[in-house]
Amino acid sequence: MQDFVFQNATKVIFGKGQEQAVGTEAAAYGKKLLLHYGGGSIKESGLYDRVVQSVREQGIEIIELGGVQPNPRVSLVREGISLCREHNIDFILAVGGGSVIDSAKAIAAGVKYEGDVWDFFTGKSAVTDCLPLGVVLTIPAAGSETSNGTVITAEDGWYKRATGHPSMRPRFAILNPELTYTLPAYQTACGITDMMAHILERYFTNEKNVELTDRLCEATLKTIINNAHTVLDEPENYHARAEIMWAGTVAHNDWLSTGRVGDWGSHDIEHEISGIYDIAHGAGLAIVFPAWMTYVYKHDLNRFAQFAHRVWDVEIDLNDLEKTALKGIEKTKQFFHSIGMPVSLRQVDIGDDRIDEMAKKGTERGPLGNFVKLHEEDVQKILQLAW
Ligand code: NZQ
Ligand code: ZN
Repeated sequence: MQDFVFQNATKVIFGKGQEQAVGTEAAAYGKKLLLHYGGGSIKESGLYDRVVQSVREQGIEIIELGGVQPNPRVSLVREGISLCREHNIDFILAVGGGSVIDSAKAIAAGVKYEGDVWDFFTGKSAVTDCLPLGVVLTIPAAGSETSNGTVITAEDGWYKRATGHPSMRPRFAILNPELTYTLPAYQTACGITDMMAHILERYFTNEKNVELTDRLCEATLKTIINNAHTVLDEPENYHARAEIMWAGTVAHNDWLSTGRVGDWGSHDIEHEISGIYDIAHGAGLAIVFPAWMTYVYKHDLNRFAQFAHRVWDVEIDLNDLEKTALKGIEKTKQFFHSIGMPVSLRQVDIGDDRIDEMAKKGTERGPLGNFVKLHEEDVQKILQLAW
């Protein structure tokens, strides 16, 4: 196990009706907030009205910026930065999913920076400080509600890139599983896939002697797998929605990364796909992850066999670990398919004509991944397997 420092300062407020607390939580950070949200789901569900009322009751002034799209765009981030400066905003409140939260984080960092916010995503500059932000989460998926990162897409070239800093972690995150009842099945499944992928990125490590975090990863994966079909069949099953919602946060709050180095190659490859084709991040991961696993499993047959056995209950064949490992990969793919996810690029009508371009773009700044270092030709081969 490697040495580590763990600090995650986000206050999580979890449970039924907890969005009522948003006004009092926000009041600690000032008198003027930017209310940031997406394409309208929060207005349809009535959450918008409840949030506005709770905030106004504390005498806080609200400036609004809606319209965040999935795979959030840097142009709206720039608009948000201007609004914050114009109105002297103290605090940003993100109400929505990963896209809204990521857009809010980029605004929060950009307000404190004199240059263009995209500099943070190209490596030209690094985030050092952010406006404080808080979250009311409506979809368990990205884990951005307690993560220190943000992922934004630049329309110029369709680059989807990430940056991060500890000051980006939201000050509070309100998680009410009831708010997820209105999620369409497809979005629920995309979220489930994304949170599983966050665990898998951490699980496939070269670090030895990480039994505790291995087993925490396996337990979190099993909990997601056990509840996934229940939330799809019974969208208003509170207890199953609660398990999935908390798992989404645990998957990405860095608890499961302690003492180990994660991979993240599949995420980087997926960002090339959703950057260009604008598909849901979770769907992209269901396509990429089994292909990545198929490409790299021989690098550590023991780890893949352990995964197959402990997560998917595949019997270990000590004389043929490869067979065990391959069964685990097949079970992962079957599971994604069973919850309604695509498992090939063809299924989402993506041709193979831009695979070389994606591989080149994705590796512009060096090889991807850590478990196995992936160069341009490796990414090409993985995308071919995913096609
Ligand atoms: O825009 P609205 O109208 O709100 O609709 C959204 C959106 O269309 C809808 N939705 C959300 N909650 C709902 C709902 N519809 C009905 N009822 C509800 N309760 O769902 C759609 C998807 O929302 P989005 O925010 O895009 O989903 P998600 O949370 O999966 O976020 C995806 C983004 O997060 C990034 C991804 O790359 C992607 O851009 N990620 C961010 C990470 C981070 N910051 O730590 C890590 C992740 O790996 C990921 O890369
Ligand atoms: Zn993800």
